[in-house]
Amino acid sequence: VIGNWKMNGCLERNASLLAELRSMSCADRVDVVVCPPFPFISQAKDVLSGSAVSVGAQNLSSFKDGAYTGEVSGSMLLDLGCSWVIVGHSERRSVFGETDHVVATKVALALELGLKPILCVGETLAQREAGEAEAVVQAQLDGVLAVVGAALASDIVVAYEPVWAIGTGRTATPDQAEVMHAFIRAHLERSGVAAQKVKILYGGSVTAANASLLFVKPDIDGALVGGASLVAESFSLICAAAAAI
Ligand code: 13P
Repeated sequence: VIGNWKMNGCLERNASLLAELRSMSCADRVDVVVCPPFPFISQAKDVLSGSAVSVGAQNLSSFKDGAYTGEVSGSMLLDLGCSWVIVGHSERRSVFGETDHVVATKVALALELGLKPILCVGETLAQREAGEAEAVVQAQLDGVLAVVGAALASDIVVAYEPVWAIGTGRTATPDQAEVMHAFIRAHLERSGVAAQKVKILYGGSVTAANASLLFVKPDIDGALVGGASLVAESFSLICAAAAAI
């Protein structure tokens, strides 16, 4: 269960949220990761040190180092103690123009550095209504597979986040999500990836109320949680739901 804080938080508020997450009892039975904005990564590492909760980042540069003003490299994230990084979130693709090629470069760089990439894929509402959801997701996966190769791709965590379900309160139904997750796993398998090893997370309006219904599905291995990850009680309940299953 991964919390994507997006561009939210401040030192004071983070301190109480992180302190509550630190004491979560289920974190030894489920992989729990929080991804704060870059400036708060050290704070999260400090408060969570010695706990079972890991820290990740929301993005990394597609360049290794050098004259790239405003960028944050993967090796800096490692230096700060991050072990995970979200790549290709739909907000990065749509607001910041990240192409499949940039996303693939970032995934490859993360893998090379030993950061675990969480690759986000997902279709827009228009694409779903046009019957293109699977083709869109397949193209997003193929862009990465072409650069990374099937052998290394089993180390990627895939997050299926239908764009129409992000921050809208409109979750994909567990059946809709499962159909896409099964498609993703089958496509990875067809592409020569050890797909049973790959964790496929669902993201998009996951709450404490709907998490269990999603987690019981065989191909839904966890969740990438936005809004609900900013509230300790909600995030803890989602983690507990995963641990229970
Ligand atoms: P919400 O849970 O707020 O819908 O956000 C999902 C998301 O984009 C996580 O990366």
